[in-house]
Amino acid sequence: MITNSKLSSLQVMQDAPVIPVIVLNDVAHAVPMARALVAGGIRMLEVTLRTPQALACIEAIAKEVPEAVVGAGTVRTRADAQAAAMAGARFAVSPGYTSAVGQACRDAGLALLPGVATGSEIMMAQEDGFTELKFFPALQAGGAAMLKAWGGPFFDVKFCPTGGVTLQNAPDFLALPNVVCVGGSWLVPADALMQGDWARITQLARDTLNLKK
Ligand code: 3PG
Repeated sequence: MITNSKLSSLQVMQDAPVIPVIVLNDVAHAVPMARALVAGGIRMLEVTLRTPQALACIEAIAKEVPEAVVGAGTVRTRADAQAAAMAGARFAVSPGYTSAVGQACRDAGLALLPGVATGSEIMMAQEDGFTELKFFPALQAGGAAMLKAWGGPFFDVKFCPTGGVTLQNAPDFLALPNVVCVGGSWLVPADALMQGDWARITQLARDTLNLKK
């Protein structure tokens, strides 16, 4: 179990081959969904700040599922970072990068995976001390070929590609030396949440553990 001490971005990335990107519309889904993922071996959970219920969901998971490590996704502003930390998030993921978000996460004690899609964004994040980054949207912005090309100049940066990643194409990304894990929404399908099909979510999590890093 990961204790309450501060996490590093690398710890967030190294825990499992996949970080699930989760969209929750109902607070009642949060705890059983988190337990289902933990039962399948996935405990770093990114709950996106895309719904009015997201913060309450983060709070519920932080309080009631101590085996999980809950983070906030879609963190775009200083206020997002503060609210996520207040709700009990331990890490943050952002779709892009600004120094303000980087500083806000540091101030709030959140490990951050900043989102980047260009060389200049990587350089900005590195300038602020971030070397573990999310490549978003991975498939649309160049996929594994882009990461391979970045491996030259950005030899000291590690990535979590997210966006368009599936169980089928995840191995192409995970085979790259500069990829530590991938992110994806396929582990928590909207219809499984609606149906309360927690066993399906556990199985989807289990399936990802066969992915090799
Ligand atoms: C997102 O932020 O929506 C993630 O990148 C998830 O993308 P996916 O649905 O393609 O996995």
